[in-house]
Amino acid sequence: MFPILETRDLCRHFGGLRALENVSMQIWEREICGIIGPNGAGKTTLFNVITGFLRATRGDVFFQKRSITNLPPERIARLGVIRTFQNIRIFKHMTVLDNVKVGFHTQTSTRLWDALAHTAVFRRDEDKVTEESFRILKEVGLAQEANNLAMNLPYGMQRKLEIARALAANPLVLLLDEPAAGMNPKETEDLVSFIRQLNGWGLTIVVIEHDMKLIMNVCHRIIVLNHGKKICEGTPKEVQKDQQVVEAYLGRSSDLT
Ligand SMILES: Nc1ncnc2c1ncn2[C@@H]1O[C@H](COP(=O)(O)OP(=O)(O)OP(=O)(O)O)[C@@H](O)[C@H]1O
Ligand SMILES: [Mg+2]
Repeated sequence: MFPILETRDLCRHFGGLRALENVSMQIWEREICGIIGPNGAGKTTLFNVITGFLRATRGDVFFQKRSITNLPPERIARLGVIRTFQNIRIFKHMTVLDNVKVGFHTQTSTRLWDALAHTAVFRRDEDKVTEESFRILKEVGLAQEANNLAMNLPYGMQRKLEIARALAANPLVLLLDEPAAGMNPKETEDLVSFIRQLNGWGLTIVVIEHDMKLIMNVCHRIIVLNHGKKICEGTPKEVQKDQQVVEAYLGRSSDLT
């Protein structure tokens, strides 16, 4: 077996700051893997480098054994590595349905010219995209909201919509950056079931979270970063017992249980 996603000695420096330092990790197909670590540990930077939003200073990223290091973000997305952002990024003034349709951009064969000229190809693709977007909204339980403006959804649903849009890009690996941030306990609970549901559909999920309850509940495996370095990895039980992890969260160690 080979990892679906892998980094080898991945480094990202910002001047003298080593935001990522020799991070080697494997993500296995169909697992839910958590990435945790204190603020500034390098978690978002890791996602940014994997998805091509930031260049690696050194080291490599592999997807299905193939190097994707420093490819443009849209090419990486087209291969099936799709991410969401730490700060919610939906189009608040667009409808829920249109938000999901945007996600199909990486998938359709439509070229800009087709869109401008409203050619038959464009119309055919457009119908297909609408139909598929509805299907996704149904699957994630947002179909009833399809024609509402995104900004009118409760916060938890907005974050769900963001994930629905990511699904429209047809991911094999879904990278979620703090999906529970700002959620109330009920919304977080729903998110846990939603992540399990996505995983049940066959998606590989990597999730960055500060919400330890969510992480310990939903992840098969956890990788811990601190000051840009991987300091530990293992099952939730193993990670909670690790002395280095407890020290990294010193003063907040109770968060880990
Ligand atoms: N574009 C950038 N330019 C300069 N420094 C950056 C940049 N992006 C991140 N950093 C720095 O790199 C370090 C890691 O940041 P990163 O955002 O990856 O942390 P994080 O683990 O996601 O933290 P948080 O839990 O607060 O989201 C921090 O010290 C941050 O200030
Ligand atoms: Mg972050």
